[in-house]
Amino acid sequence: MSWRKESSLAWLRSLPGVRADEPLAARTSFGIGGPAEFFAEMANPQSVERAIEGCRVRAIPYRLLGAGTNVLIADAGIEGLVVRVVNRDVEVDGTRIRAGAGLKMMRLARVAADAGLRGFEFGIGVPGSVGGAVYQNAGCWGSELRQVLVSVTGFQPGADRRTWSVGDLGLGYRTSALRDGALRGALVIDATIKLERGDGEEAKRLMARLTRERNETQPIKTKNCGSVFKNPPGDSAGRLIQAAGLKGTREGSAVISELHGNFIINEGGARAADVARLIDRVRSEVMRRFGVQLEREVELIGSWK
Ligand code: EPU
Repeated sequence: MSWRKESSLAWLRSLPGVRADEPLAARTSFGIGGPAEFFAEMANPQSVERAIEGCRVRAIPYRLLGAGTNVLIADAGIEGLVVRVVNRDVEVDGTRIRAGAGLKMMRLARVAADAGLRGFEFGIGVPGSVGGAVYQNAGCWGSELRQVLVSVTGFQPGADRRTWSVGDLGLGYRTSALRDGALRGALVIDATIKLERGDGEEAKRLMARLTRERNETQPIKTKNCGSVFKNPPGDSAGRLIQAAGLKGTREGSAVISELHGNFIINEGGARAADVARLIDRVRSEVMRRFGVQLEREVELIGSWK
């Protein structure tokens, strides 16, 4: 039975700041995807908690969105409610920093350096939000969030607000219990990281160097979703895609980057279906040539039927 009862639709329409049929493409780094049936941007965690708890009791599908840097939204859009979580409060306390889920990782990296803290320089290479980074244990240059993470405040519909330890979060390579396990659908409110005291100016120099390097190896000025595939154990998806001769392969306006094989670029007006076809082509060609099963890092969300 559909969840679309008149009372549930009326409740959705009554949410603060909610908009119906809201385009989402511009809210993703890919610039691709259809509309949200209902959409709201919320900075107050309690508002998000009320919204997703309300969805749970009414069996309304919902989706939490951060900076939209690792998602491919279907052309048909997303049914139910989409909440963009934008709480960006940040608080430095000694060597610990507590950061709201909506804060950008790059911003947090600068806050850490300004506070004379070391160990979060890798954050400058992660385009997403803190919430999204917890969701998939984001990382760069061989470091990942879990190495500095102390705890996360969160809310799981049907339960209370609580503090998750790193162990509770089931963090692995680009995965967590929020993305793939028992905490699916739960909200990240904020994350606390612990760093080392050090020379903030040195941290800034290192971040500048890493950014220059990233600029040379990744098409960071284009519309893309970051790495499309996870690296298979002991190898690199980008290397395999290049070795399979797939750079420059296109479907519509979606094309595999000539600079880095693990990036798909939206040249303008690409459809989600184009990207999905390109992903399938890459997977079957890499499997045929090298017998390696590439696993997607980008998450396909919305109505794909
Ligand atoms: N390579 C090629 N051809 C290519 C691309 C890469 O031969 O077209 C080779 C490189 O020469 C290198 C190896 O593959 O020897 C690895 O490439 P790179 O150093 O560019 O890193 P990556 O493994 O492709 C990972 C993360 C990135 C992160 C970079 C930098 C994954 C899936 N990707 O990329 O994370 O920015 O390291 O540390 O783990 C992301 O997750 O969205 C992301 C961008």
